[in-house]
Amino acid sequence: MLIPFEEEYKKKYFALLEEVFQAGVLSDGKLLRKFEEKFSQYTNLSSKAISNGGAALLAILEYLDVKGKEVIVPANTFWATSLAAKQAGAKVVYADCNRNDLCLSLKSLKKLVTPKTKAVIVVHIGGHIAFEIDVIKDFCSQRNLLLIEDCAHAHGAEFHAKMAGSWGIAGAYSFYATKTMPMGEGGMVVSRDSDLLKWVERFRNYGKEVVRGKVEYPVKTGFNYRMSEQMAAFGIVQLERLPKILEWKRLLAEKFDNIFDDRVRFPEGMKSGYYKYIAFCQDLKCKTGKVYDISDQCHRIEGMEIDLPESDWVGGNHQCPPIFYGWEYADKTIGELRSILL
Ligand SMILES: Cc1ncc(COP(=O)(O)O)c(C=O)c1O
Repeated sequence: MLIPFEEEYKKKYFALLEEVFQAGVLSDGKLLRKFEEKFSQYTNLSSKAISNGGAALLAILEYLDVKGKEVIVPANTFWATSLAAKQAGAKVVYADCNRNDLCLSLKSLKKLVTPKTKAVIVVHIGGHIAFEIDVIKDFCSQRNLLLIEDCAHAHGAEFHAKMAGSWGIAGAYSFYATKTMPMGEGGMVVSRDSDLLKWVERFRNYGKEVVRGKVEYPVKTGFNYRMSEQMAAFGIVQLERLPKILEWKRLLAEKFDNIFDDRVRFPEGMKSGYYKYIAFCQDLKCKTGKVYDISDQCHRIEGMEIDLPESDWVGGNHQCPPIFYGWEYADKTIGELRSILL
């Protein structure tokens, strides 16, 4: 898949690279700060850049100290969500999803909480916010559970004007090559908790901090999860380009809505970023991969047999017509698209 990149944005990127050379700083410089500030303005949440989405999740989970505790994760997610919790020393407990949004089910979550449960990760699957996010948040507050949001699919997603990452203690974004805001590699932690973000700044740099010109190690963990100035420059450009990509995807989704009656239908107040377009049907002539197929679901990767009927159903019954930016047939009419897809 070739990712289109317009001349106008190439020029902006090269101009920012020139700023990197002028400043003579290749890491932890003003472009990183600028990218973080711009992402904070966009999401209305404070932001710290990190090397990728998995590291963003790991940083949050290590800060919350889930070691030896249970973390509830939907089975219908990318394996990275589960691996991050395992790497942070937690026992992962898999929950089922809902058919209507493919995201964590409150009903399933309620059944899995034990005295050892410390945190819950909700994953905004496919580019929309989990439909039950408000009630999941309330449930977690009542039960003293820490809510984390995996926002890897949710660039540009809004629910009642709030963006992904607004409900939990923190959210983890990925800018991997195939994401709606692709940087090749990259990630962002968003939060309103300044202690957590301060901790992420140290965690991404071997736990290090420079205090009055002296190197100190206030956090005795972490690794190299830094983002270079060149990558931050690219992030600034991709963030500026994101509304254009979202508009393009939303226009195509409107056409698909005329073709697919049985699809994920959004509640009032929801705007998807359309990482994927999700239709409930058996086959398409032209499609991209499913969000997650049955064999991609985390419990199956682990070889566990758990009764998760809704995850089984969505894994077997959805398809994704192409909605990646630049798809060659996007300008076709609804009628033409219908015959390309069905
Ligand atoms: C749901 C989900 N969580 C986490 C990740 C990990 O992000 P990254 O590949 O940037 O580490 C991804 C994607 O790759 C993802 O789809």
